[in-house]
Amino acid sequence: AAREPIQNQFDISGLDLPDILGTINDEVRERFGEGKPADYIDALANVPLDRFGMALVTRDGDVHEVGDAREAFSIQSISKVHTVTMALDALGDDLWERVDREPSGDPFNSLIQLEYEKGIPRNPFMNAGALVVADVLLSAHERPEQALVDFVRARAGRVDIGADDVVAKSERESGYRNIATANFIRSYGNIHNAVDDVLDFYFLQCSLSMNCVDLARSMQFLACGGYCGVSGQQVVSAQMSTRINSLMMTAGTYDAAGDFAYYVGLPAKSGVGGGIVAVVPHVMSLCVWYPGLDEKGNSALGKYALHRFTQLTGLSVF
Ligand code: DON
Repeated sequence: AAREPIQNQFDISGLDLPDILGTINDEVRERFGEGKPADYIDALANVPLDRFGMALVTRDGDVHEVGDAREAFSIQSISKVHTVTMALDALGDDLWERVDREPSGDPFNSLIQLEYEKGIPRNPFMNAGALVVADVLLSAHERPEQALVDFVRARAGRVDIGADDVVAKSERESGYRNIATANFIRSYGNIHNAVDDVLDFYFLQCSLSMNCVDLARSMQFLACGGYCGVSGQQVVSAQMSTRINSLMMTAGTYDAAGDFAYYVGLPAKSGVGGGIVAVVPHVMSLCVWYPGLDEKGNSALGKYALHRFTQLTGLSVF
């Protein structure tokens, strides 16, 4: 039998993307109700499980979307991709003296490795690492919250993106674990600013409200060697964009990163609002949203949608 021809993985001209998104949308809607919303944040606890959106943005800037792709939701930990990009821009590889770049194998809010590892978080995507990254941004910017909002707006190409104060307040009120984590890191000297300021910044970044199209656009630079076609700016070097993708692959979905690599095969970053962004390097960026979470805190049907996407397109990085 003839061998399968070697395909150019960057050529998507043969893919019927609207049809593929339509198939995924139909399949996901059959399964509405799976998972449960993040119930540890009051403002997210009662989100109904009858919403699904998916959007992708190609290198050329073409947008394809389906379902509730224009409904805003709480981006939560997806913001950690934006903040680590800003911190790498500010510090370059010196960031790695403050935070490591290894998968943790532990849940996003775990503290267990921090004592053994003397206040150096395993990676910038677990909460401990994101708090150190927030501290770096507080030192690097005179108005760090505005700098973050400006960064996200420029990447997404929409000026009316902002924080949801109700979510930020709700998170503050139930933020015992994050408050403990920040204080614990401070005790090792790896947080330099006031702990409360670091926490305020972190809760604000988690409460940013965006939709699937915004988020897919905001990650397009990671599919284009660091160049953001939305704003026409080189955000980070090509090498750094490859490396941010590597961080997402190894740590973007916490203790499910191995399962994501196996099942989806793309660098991805999840948030407990039910969003997941993913990147097909050199090809496109994507975002899916469904608010029901699996036991690891990742969107249950969002993960299924990405799995079906790589199955139907063959666009896994493996
Ligand atoms: O730190 C928290 O609890 C949340 N605001 C963010 C967590 C999050 O999205 C984790 N990701 N799956």
